[in-house]
Amino acid sequence: MKIVRSIREIKSELIRCRNKGRAVGFVPTMGYLHEGHLSLIRKARQDNDVVVVSIFVNPTQFGPDEDYGEYPRDLRRDARLCKKSGADYMFHPTVKSMYPKEYSTFISVEGLTKNLCGKFRPGYFRGVATVVAKLFNIVKPDVAYFGQKDAQQSIVIKRMTEDLDMGIRVEVMPTVREKDGLAMSSRNSYLSSDERKRAVTIYRALQLARDLIKLDDKDARGIIREMRKMLAPVATKIDYVSIVDPHTLKDVKTITGEVLVAVAVWIGATRLIDNILTRY
Ligand code: PAF
Repeated sequence: MKIVRSIREIKSELIRCRNKGRAVGFVPTMGYLHEGHLSLIRKARQDNDVVVVSIFVNPTQFGPDEDYGEYPRDLRRDARLCKKSGADYMFHPTVKSMYPKEYSTFISVEGLTKNLCGKFRPGYFRGVATVVAKLFNIVKPDVAYFGQKDAQQSIVIKRMTEDLDMGIRVEVMPTVREKDGLAMSSRNSYLSSDERKRAVTIYRALQLARDLIKLDDKDARGIIREMRKMLAPVATKIDYVSIVDPHTLKDVKTITGEVLVAVAVWIGATRLIDNILTRY
């Protein structure tokens, strides 16, 4: 596996691959890899001739009071895991090369970014869409892989690739969970052992929603109320508990088909998100 820092170098490496007709699979990440990322890399390995993983903690998707500085980083470990999972290239550009002083172009995906995390993290999806578009232009993959845990992100990126005719297939892979159900996330490393125990309630609340819906409960507001009751004793703050249409991400009142049940809560100083897709 080759570690590449320069944009020019990764471009020329991948031009050579593409000229030989090799399919390129791409897994964009912010590093501090966990089993969720590794499942994406392994899938990319199965499906493609060449696998590129990017490791870039993207400053433009963090708000001024968010954890850009503290975001966990461990490049050596990431390199080892990328190699073991079958990556051919680990692309790790510098912030300066991605956003030089004169940088002025941003991508805003409208509508889909209004609800859920978009409501609580202004500028977040603008930063995500911009960096992913840049990475797509650099790597020019055939397929890119994202995790269902960041459901809104995947939907926003799919919309962007279609709207901008990027010709890249976006594949969304299932959320990988710890044994007790907590969704894997690089931010889980922030949790103290007490917070880690409390965090499992997020998945339990999602399961409660699934059970209620299976028992013919169609009233989204009532289900959200029950979920909030369960989360309130463990969460420091609840950003949202929402039941939305999985395509438009608009709130649903009466559940009649498939819905995305999504949660963002703070456990101590750590903001965690999770979701499930379920149907009536
Ligand atoms: O999901 C992430 O890790 C990031 O938001 C992404 C897609 C790599 C963009 O920085």
